Amino acid sequence: MPLSCRFVTTVTLVLALGASASAFAAGNAARGKVLSYTCLGCHGIEDYRNAYPDYDVPRLGGQHADYIVAALQEYRSGARSHPTMQVQAATLSDQDMQDIAAYFSSETVVKPDMAGAPTPPAKVATLCVSCHGKDGIAINSAYPDLAGQHENYLEQALQEYKVGERKNAVMSTFIVTLTAQDIKDVARYYAGLKPGLVTLAREVVY
Ligand code: HEC
Ligand code: HEC
Repeated sequence: MPLSCRFVTTVTLVLALGASASAFAAGNAARGKVLSYTCLGCHGIEDYRNAYPDYDVPRLGGQHADYIVAALQEYRSGARSHPTMQVQAATLSDQDMQDIAAYFSSETVVKPDMAGAPTPPAKVATLCVSCHGKDGIAINSAYPDLAGQHENYLEQALQEYKVGERKNAVMSTFIVTLTAQDIKDVARYYAGLKPGLVTLAREVVY
């Protein structure tokens, strides 16, 4: 490679690293890993289920950092109602949330291979892809990835928006357009796009 070309590549790389470093500067993943030990008692077990109603605990491995922080803040403020998660979030500071989010989002999401993917339901194609992507990988860190998430959790989440147990200005405007059948169809579509999100397992810390 000519020297000038290598120089340009290096500068580009440094700029790119600089940009991503600042985006994650707020969260310390190593501290987040320690703080997440209790959390992984539920989130770290594949197919661990919430009781009444019965659905799988959401996968957090690879989820976007800003979204994780927003979700935890919503439990803490009561905008999201789930008794266990409200208790979990109540004791977390903003810095704790940033660190936990840095840990979960440090897992790399493998984008689904869209070559063999099913055709998205019409409503997904027209209403959802602009934020959550056709492949279920959200276009920015504030929106959750949906690819590979548990189907029954996605259904539950959409039901919660529908009945107002989960309050969010953006999703409230979209959920009114979905029928009960649409909710099942979009949950099946996004959950079926693999691998996407993963269950980040708890490691034994000695
Ligand atoms: C007793 C099991 C349990 C424990 C412990 C637990 N969670 Fe959860 N968590 C859940 C369940 C169930 C949900 C889905 C609740 C809902 O429907 O809103 C959830 C939801 C979440 C979400 C939202 C995910 C999404 O896709 O919107 C985040 C983020 C989260 N938990 C983080 C944590 C963190 C961080 C901890 C530790 C401080 C923790 N959880 C501890 C069971 C648990
Ligand atoms: C303008 C951007 C935007 C569009 C369009 C959009 N969403 Fe969302 N979606 C969001 C945001 C922001 C959140 C997080 C809201 C919150 O904090 O509860 C979200 C959350 C969700 C969740 C919860 C995920 C989780 O992990 O709990 C599901 C499921 C979802 N959206 C499905 C859909 C579907 C299906 C459509 C199309 C009908 C759609 N969204 C359209 C921005 C969007």
